[in-house]
Amino acid sequence: MSVAGTFNSTSSDFDSVTPLVWGPAGQSLAFALALRAGDAVLDVCAGTGASALPAAQAVGPDGIVHAIDLADDLLDVGRVKATAAALRNIDFVCADATEWETPSSVPDGYDALSCSYGIFFLPDMDISFARLVRLVRPGGRVGVTVWRKGAVEAFGNAFFDVVARYAPDVAHNGPRSRSNYDTNPIRRVETADSLAEWLQSEGCSDVQVQELSNHVPATEEFVWNFVLGSGFRGALSNFDESTTLAIRREFGELLTERGIDFVDATTLVATGVRTA
Ligand SMILES: C[S@@+](CC[C@H](N)C(=O)[O-])C[C@H]1O[C@@H](n2cnc3c(N)ncnc32)[C@H](O)[C@@H]1O
Repeated sequence: MSVAGTFNSTSSDFDSVTPLVWGPAGQSLAFALALRAGDAVLDVCAGTGASALPAAQAVGPDGIVHAIDLADDLLDVGRVKATAAALRNIDFVCADATEWETPSSVPDGYDALSCSYGIFFLPDMDISFARLVRLVRPGGRVGVTVWRKGAVEAFGNAFFDVVARYAPDVAHNGPRSRSNYDTNPIRRVETADSLAEWLQSEGCSDVQVQELSNHVPATEEFVWNFVLGSGFRGALSNFDESTTLAIRREFGELLTERGIDFVDATTLVATGVRTA
């Protein structure tokens, strides 16, 4: 299934994970970017707006946030939230981050670029992100979040162990996927040092990386919401309802058997300044 197809299918569940996972990271990223009133912000891989909505609040009525994503169903959820919050300075646009150009309404380039849990989905992470960095004006700010090394690992291993009982070779493009684990680009940016080095190689200076410690209690409700409201859901796309129910039950049992009481959602929040 395509990335857009996977994430569109999460739209009714994605925000059940937002208060515990996507939201804290998105808010941290928006704060770490030290946005100012009137800034123009590009938020790519925006989903339902976990980082884009706090950015819109930060930049205020004279600022603008362009929140872009391939999954229009997630953007729809974001649009409803923006309306409910009376935020009129945010545009949710269905577009590919690898093709986005600076619009004429932002003649000098963006003041800031943010991407929360998105860079490792870009088809060629290095080339695609370096291009996005160049849409920021020199001296503007760039920020990303990624899972820290080991985060979501025990959870993902248990999930894919159960899925493998029903389909040994399920194709899945997330950062914890079995099929491309070693070659997934996240492996190159999942420690503070390697992420800082990577951002420098992408055209940023003054890079700072903070670790956002987050351990979510592995309640029955949360663990399944996290599967359905994240890229993990892509691994379920070919199963019928009764198999999916069996996977849910067995996954819960396996987490208990392995003593996984918490989901480690620890995240690296990195920012830098676009070099001239
Ligand atoms: C894990 S979600 C994160 C969403 C949001 N930033 C958050 O933290 O809640 C990753 C998002 O990246 C989007 N995405 C992946 N590749 C993309 C691309 N080439 N262009 C735009 N969005 C993309 C997916 O559709 C998905 O919504």
